[in-house]
Amino acid sequence: MIEGDEAPKAAAPANAGRGARINIVGADGVAREAEGSPAYSVLVALQRAGLPHRHDCGGKALCGTCRVALVGGRVSPMGGRERDRLAAVGAPTDGSVRLACQARPAGAIALKALMPFAPGGAAGGAEGGGDGR
Ligand code: FES
Repeated sequence: MIEGDEAPKAAAPANAGRGARINIVGADGVAREAEGSPAYSVLVALQRAGLPHRHDCGGKALCGTCRVALVGGRVSPMGGRERDRLAAVGAPTDGSVRLACQARPAGAIALKALMPFAPGGAAGGAEGGGDGR
């Protein structure tokens, strides 16, 4: 579930994602693609592509399960709430790891998922195979 301003924008133009291709290598080592846009978060783009990326708090920067490694490209600047959550889960706060629910692609980006995709659905829970942090 995505809430607040992280919800997909129904009025977004059909070509809003052009130039913001997202390549993501899952924790399983398999590469996948999604069409992103600066208009919405990486998490929304992954969901639109049908990838069950974990987001246990619903995209509120409260859980850290959506975190990804930024391998290439640029995303939106990190806010204080995102920085605090990354620090709380022991992730780097130097921009090399970002919350997919907060970061918006500024163009084509390459990511590595740090948590396994949720089995059988978009939102993983404790059974989702997380690392327990
Ligand atoms: S979904 Fe919980 S921090 Fe991103």
